[in-house]
Amino acid sequence: MPTPEIPAQEPYSIQVEEGKKYFWCACGKSAKQPFCDGSHAGTGMAPTLYTADKSRTVFFCGCKQTDKAPLCDGSHAKL
Ligand code: FES
Repeated sequence: MPTPEIPAQEPYSIQVEEGKKYFWCACGKSAKQPFCDGSHAGTGMAPTLYTADKSRTVFFCGCKQTDKAPLCDGSHAKL
């Protein structure tokens, strides 16, 4: 299993829109965190699809260590 980079040691607070699809960067290489920009090519990793069930603020994982991808589970506190 490839190891992701750690672009941030805290989650990204993002306002999502109901029904909209978001591709969360799992590899940590994207320049458009927390979302995929295609930089995962060749890493063996791929983005995680998130579909917003309602419009609200979501905390996307920034450390890429979460067990609840793509959302923060507090794992950054253990880094
Ligand atoms: Fe990281 Fe696509 S750039 S998963």
